[in-house]
Amino acid sequence: MDNRAIGIFDSGLGGLTTVKEMQRLLPQERIIYFGDTGRVPYGSRSRETLRKYAMQDVAFLKQFDCKLIIAACGTISSVFTPEMQQSIGVPFTGVVQPTAQAACAVTNGRIGVIGTSATIHSGAYGRAIRAINPNVRTFGNACPLFVPLVENGFVQPDNEITTRVAEIYLKPIQEAQVDTLILGCTHYPLLTPIIDRLLNSQVTLINAGEQAARWAQNYLMSNDLLGDGDGACEYFISDTPELFAETAGIFLGEPLKDITQISIEELQAAI
Ligand code: DGL
Repeated sequence: MDNRAIGIFDSGLGGLTTVKEMQRLLPQERIIYFGDTGRVPYGSRSRETLRKYAMQDVAFLKQFDCKLIIAACGTISSVFTPEMQQSIGVPFTGVVQPTAQAACAVTNGRIGVIGTSATIHSGAYGRAIRAINPNVRTFGNACPLFVPLVENGFVQPDNEITTRVAEIYLKPIQEAQVDTLILGCTHYPLLTPIIDRLLNSQVTLINAGEQAARWAQNYLMSNDLLGDGDGACEYFISDTPELFAETAGIFLGEPLKDITQISIEELQAAI
């Protein structure tokens, strides 16, 4: 038994897809969430900048003596190296490996991957999928407008602007006739109703945030690290809380109580 918290981070709202699944699977786990809303989006940044941000985010969470840290962010997971992972000194996972495994388990051989520009250009999902099953073909498409749309609350299933943008981004995926689609950025599941409707509910959607939570459940169980606490979740963000609280509250189905704003300087000093 281990009642230390699980640290989860993302550039903003996306990592809540991991929090939501975590709360469903393991309601007794304490969670410390960090959303780097002062520097979102991550997906258009260079590999070097992303690695620097990742290490700052991890250092911030380490202050809470976390038993596991999850990069609930496809972008960070795509550029995170084994050396970085080793240097942390705390158990860690990103979303790419668990998600690739889940997609390979259900596909008939054609997997689409949508993600941020950094994620798609890194080729990380394709590499992970080929390592699991070299016979599977992958088709990627970057969707850089999705994250700003989500962060600005354009997530209603009938939102006309988001629907039009999604039509454009999903066209090549539909043309590739994939049977499975990885929502490789953790923000995208907030757009699931729109994406699923445009694909006529014919494609299996794999939610990267959820898969990371499932991986974490297995990891905690097999290492005797499960907690039996009250499941409290504390939120830290690096910009103003109003819009975050509103959209997060809708997504999680309950108002967020505990949100603390930290400064970017504080984050940089954590390292
Ligand atoms: N939610 C993140 C991801 O999974 C970050 C997106 C962004 O900030 O561009 O890629």
